[in-house]
Amino acid sequence: MVKISVIGAGMVGATAVQRLAEFELGDIAMIDVVEGLPQGKALDMLESASLCDFDVDVLGSNDYSDIEGSDVVVVTAGVARKPDMTREDLIGINSNIVKDVCSHVALHASGAVVLVVTNPLDIMTYAALKYTGFEHQRVFGMSGVLDSARFSYFVAAELNCSVRDVYAMVLGGHGDTMVESIVRDTRRILPACAYLSGEYGQKDVYLGVPVKLGRRGVLEVIELELRDETKAALAQSADSVRDGVKKLNLCL
Ligand SMILES: NC(=O)c1ccc[n+]([C@@H]2O[C@H](COP(=O)([O-])OP(=O)(O)OC[C@H]3O[C@@H](n4cnc5c(N)ncnc54)[C@H](O)[C@@H]3O)[C@@H](O)[C@H]2O)c1
Repeated sequence: MVKISVIGAGMVGATAVQRLAEFELGDIAMIDVVEGLPQGKALDMLESASLCDFDVDVLGSNDYSDIEGSDVVVVTAGVARKPDMTREDLIGINSNIVKDVCSHVALHASGAVVLVVTNPLDIMTYAALKYTGFEHQRVFGMSGVLDSARFSYFVAAELNCSVRDVYAMVLGGHGDTMVESIVRDTRRILPACAYLSGEYGQKDVYLGVPVKLGRRGVLEVIELELRDETKAALAQSADSVRDGVKKLNLCL
């Protein structure tokens, strides 16, 4: 059985665990620093198993040793930006949380694929790469699938057609299907926040691009032919992510 660990039992983490359980993608460990929180949420989910028709294990814990041997670790721990918070404040707070989480992941789940959700996504994914010390193919972020789904909704609403018939892919800085593609090794091509080493003319930066996703992480970055203005917009997005990474370095 595949083992998936979700770090952070807040809104995003707990929802992800519920979906992972319903799709029976593996046994799940949900970790949070707040005592009793992941345990309570895990119990609620297990109690709904017969109604929701799933049969996997969901463990809630405050102890990182429970992520031992995970195949996939999803990092949702962090705070959402509050109105009085600057982007720099958010980078400082969340990079410390990601650093803490990654030290445990490197210790207990050194063979895992790491999927980062914590914002600011492209910068936190870069931080996770540095703090885990894993190869870049195993560290990537979730944003493009959600952004593309949102975009499809707006296009469908504007055209007054079914969202099922709109196919969109959002590129650049900042899903559910991702998780499935990794765990089941289906090698779907999906937008993800991936490390670029020359693709799209960009190096040493994380950006939302189409990738082939499988059990070992990012198997390939797919290079689309872009119009000049799209290329320029992507380069601008990469510069803005690099700016954020510089701020991250200042926070270390
Ligand atoms: N990438 C995306 O598309 C996307 C979408 C939505 C939210 N987010 C981001 O995801 C993050 C989580 O959002 P949320 O709504 O779930 O927030 P939340 O506040 O509901 O939950 C965050 C949880 O992280 C926990 N936590 C903090 N430090 C921890 C640590 N060191 N170890 C383990 N757990 C720790 C907190 O106790 C809390 O339960 C935020 O940064 C948010 O901006 C990203």
